[in-house]
Amino acid sequence: MKWLDTLLISVALSKSVVSIDPHDVLEQFKEEYRIKNSVQYDYLVPSEAEIKGDTFFHDYFPYYKTASPKMKNENNSGYMLEIPDSESIFLDYEDIDLYGKIDFKFPYGPLKLDHSIVNKTVNEHIDELNNLIEIENNSEAARILADINLFGLYNTAIDVKQAEALYLRIVNELPNVSAEIEGHAHFMLGVIYSTGVFGNFEKDPAKGLIHYRFAADLNNIQAQMTLAHKYMFAVNVVENYSEAIYYFSLIKERIEGKIGSSMLNVQKTPSTIVEEMIFSYNLNKFDVSWCDFEDGIFGPATQALDTLRYFETFDDYEKIKQMGTGSLGDDDYVADEDETLNAYSLLYFETQKHYNGDYLNARNYDMAFKFANLCVSNGLLEPDVAQSLKNVEKLNQAKEEFKDSSSGFKFEISFGEDLSPLDLFVGRCAQYLGHMYLRGEGTEVNYDLAKHYIDIGKNLAGNKPFLSDNGIINYYGLGMEADKKKALEIYEDGIKYASPRYYKALHLIDEFETQLKTENPDIIPEKIITMLSTASPYNMLAKRKLIQLYEEGRYTTEEKSISGVYNSYVKLLDHLYFDFKLPFYSFINSKPENDDNKIWTGLVSLAIASEIGYANAQQSLGVILWPTLGKFASKKYRYSDDIYSTVFTAQRFKEAISYLEISAKHYNRDSINYLGDLYYNGLYPSYTEQIQTDPLYNRPWWQYVLPLSSVEEEEKSWLLPKLISLFETIDKIISPLKLTLRSIGLLRNSSTYTNEIAIVPRDVKKAISYYYDASTLGSHLGSYNVGWAYEFGIGVAQDLNLAKRYYELSLERSNLGYLAVKFAILRLELKAYVWSLIGCDGRGIREINHDGKTWKERFTMIISMFGNPNFD
Ligand SMILES: *[C@@H]1O[C@H](CO)[C@@H](O)[C@H](O)[C@H]1NC(C)=O
Ligand SMILES: *[C@@H]1O[C@H](CO)[C@@H](O)[C@H](O)[C@H]1NC(C)=O
Ligand SMILES: *[C@@H]1O[C@H](CO)[C@@H](O)[C@H](O)[C@H]1NC(C)=O
Ligand SMILES: *[C@@H]1O[C@H](CO)[C@@H](O)[C@H](O)[C@H]1NC(C)=O
Ligand SMILES: *[C@@H]1O[C@H](CO)[C@@H](O)[C@H](O)[C@H]1NC(C)=O
Ligand SMILES: *[C@@H]1O[C@H](CO)[C@@H](O)[C@H](O)[C@H]1NC(C)=O
Repeated sequence: MKWLDTLLISVALSKSVVSIDPHDVLEQFKEEYRIKNSVQYDYLVPSEAEIKGDTFFHDYFPYYKTASPKMKNENNSGYMLEIPDSESIFLDYEDIDLYGKIDFKFPYGPLKLDHSIVNKTVNEHIDELNNLIEIENNSEAARILADINLFGLYNTAIDVKQAEALYLRIVNELPNVSAEIEGHAHFMLGVIYSTGVFGNFEKDPAKGLIHYRFAADLNNIQAQMTLAHKYMFAVNVVENYSEAIYYFSLIKERIEGKIGSSMLNVQKTPSTIVEEMIFSYNLNKFDVSWCDFEDGIFGPATQALDTLRYFETFDDYEKIKQMGTGSLGDDDYVADEDETLNAYSLLYFETQKHYNGDYLNARNYDMAFKFANLCVSNGLLEPDVAQSLKNVEKLNQAKEEFKDSSSGFKFEISFGEDLSPLDLFVGRCAQYLGHMYLRGEGTEVNYDLAKHYIDIGKNLAGNKPFLSDNGIINYYGLGMEADKKKALEIYEDGIKYASPRYYKALHLIDEFETQLKTENPDIIPEKIITMLSTASPYNMLAKRKLIQLYEEGRYTTEEKSISGVYNSYVKLLDHLYFDFKLPFYSFINSKPENDDNKIWTGLVSLAIASEIGYANAQQSLGVILWPTLGKFASKKYRYSDDIYSTVFTAQRFKEAISYLEISAKHYNRDSINYLGDLYYNGLYPSYTEQIQTDPLYNRPWWQYVLPLSSVEEEEKSWLLPKLISLFETIDKIISPLKLTLRSIGLLRNSSTYTNEIAIVPRDVKKAISYYYDASTLGSHLGSYNVGWAYEFGIGVAQDLNLAKRYYELSLERSNLGYLAVKFAILRLELKAYVWSLIGCDGRGIREINHDGKTWKERFTMIISMFGNPNFD
């Protein structure tokens, strides 16, 4: 026996000598998963190297495919571009149609959150990882296995408890663990305790914070983000902007080390050379709010912010193609007949498509460069384009001469009508080409060529889409003598856009520094700060500059306001903290009816992103868990026996509220209104119970018309009892109608439930305070709801004047609900009239100097018109 043991151990050991790399095991996992699971959507990447990410989370993404050159085969149809002295290029119709797709459907509804009981799948690769941990104390294997267990990746069993055990083992037991892995394990433990992973653990934010702090001390960037977010938005801790700024500045320091590609040594003054970030870099944003794919929670116009990226599709070019033909809006014109124009529009389309990528295609600068080059080199040979170019150059020259003659008279060259669609397509290709030469994308940096093509592009098609390229070249003197005056003119031209405004502010700072005449040479003048702040919401560099000036002590502002700038700046670079493709692709590929793990993977990913501070993730989770969108939006699913007990559990709604509440702290108006609705409606075991607590349900309908106070006080008024009895009579007449209306509701017995029932008591006061917050943030929906509350005295003292003010506010903010709001205002006016008849002011309070007599006479007259015998 002893002998056998030794043999077993030595076999095990010799296996470990061959030592497998845990990363290879992971690659096999992904490979096999890809082969076994055909998914609806792949992420097309130019080469495998491109998908290597910045975090451990980027190791796991399995839904990518390497793009291969398109070949025409018998099955696909498309365009064949015949290019003289070059290979022909085939462009698939389907690729063209699919570009910019954003109509992904999210499977709101029956998602299972209870994964506490699972059957462990025995998998060869899991065994390999386990062996590495047991035999070699391999912490990398432990990290990978723990993550796989938590996310339920590659359809292995989801096992949150096992994940916790492994993370604990990394931080407590395994020897020789690198700081990165230990930091990661602490961060993940923080997530587990802080969120409870959808009810798999008791939530313990205090314990979570301890792990986040350990992780942050180990320089774990996710934990630093999490702590900054928590301190800034007072999540589980007391609000403390200094703490937030401390963590944000650590992160900003790290970002500085990563943005090398757009840094350049520039000659600021004859004696100083500084390193400057000359342009912002391209971001692939997968951090979306899932409601936006459904046009937002309350429709597109109420969104605080649309989180979806915009993509220029081939269809967008139809308008351009009709330009200059005099056939704009002419249905008879068939642009498709112009083959040359179509070819160039396609070349331009392919250029911008590959340059910008979309949700299904990674950026591919090599291809973008190739198409831009084809488009420009051939385009310049087109006689029409060459002619236009010559004309514009002549015009420009004339303009220069005119200016030099210092007549003071400026004349503008208007392109407008002369601009031909062909010029536009070729010109825009040239701008892309110049842009890529400037930035070294798909090619080596070449400032001379950049300038050459940017000039051509400008002459043919104006400045868009790259407003500042020309200015940057002139300003920094790239491939030429710097010409700051020219640069300034260019910025001045586009000053209403963020990027030229940023560069102009930079210029002003330089000027300010060389003059040094003010009393306070270190403090940047207010005017420049204003330019930067107004550019900063749309411009990454402006945000960075503001932070830089703040850190140098040259710009002083409130901690609260600079935390906001830090927050929006560091959040832009989301790939440094998380792989947002993971939840994105898990959701768009999921098939909940197959009970696969993808939904779970997506939810856990979003929970992590929401800890890191991404408000879109928080809002998405809230709305996913409490669906009011998609197929399961209807309330009836919440009262339906079969899925109620297993899917719409109490836990689920509790989680939804907690994520929505964090999201609301980010001033997201939709989330705030959503919470308002949620507390206004409450959640009850049955529809009957829900409706019975409705503040407007149990009242006789005529109470909607009369002041609540007078009805409740049963004041002795000569008129009120008469009115009430009139209304009661009417009520009786129409009561059969009302009964049928009410029985349409889903009446059901609550006694049939065996599971824990989700009950969120209606809390109108809380609801109104959310609506009020939303209204303060400029939401027309919020304003309308506050108006409604004042009109009927729900959660607030009834006040018709205030109600009217809020209704009008709603109308000022958006005329989307024009009819509804107008009707409400009309109703109010009628009501105010009725109230004044019975001697009440807008708050339902009896006016002292009310002249009852005259009114009585008038009113009797009105009443007698009813001809009702019940009136004496
Ligand atoms: C064309 O489609 C058929 C059936 O869909 C398939 O069997 C065939 O392999 C395809 N041909 C090519 C060249 O892809
Ligand atoms: C889990 O295993 C138990 C017993 O081993 C079995 O009865 C049950 O059906 C399994 N559940 C699933 C979902 O496979
Ligand atoms: C693994 O770690 C344990 C406890 O720290 C230690 O006793 C053991 O020798 C280690 N094994 C190897 C192969 O390093
Ligand atoms: C610790 O890890 C490093 C790198 O992973 C390795 O080179 C070293 O041999 C390890 N030391 C021990 C005692 O295992
Ligand atoms: C914020 O945190 C700092 C550092 O921990 C502390 O000195 C300061 O008192 C805190 N401020 C508030 C308002 O709690
Ligand atoms: C509700 O339950 C009661 C008693 O259990 C039963 O008599 C009644 O029919 C039920 N009503 C409905 C709508 O199921």
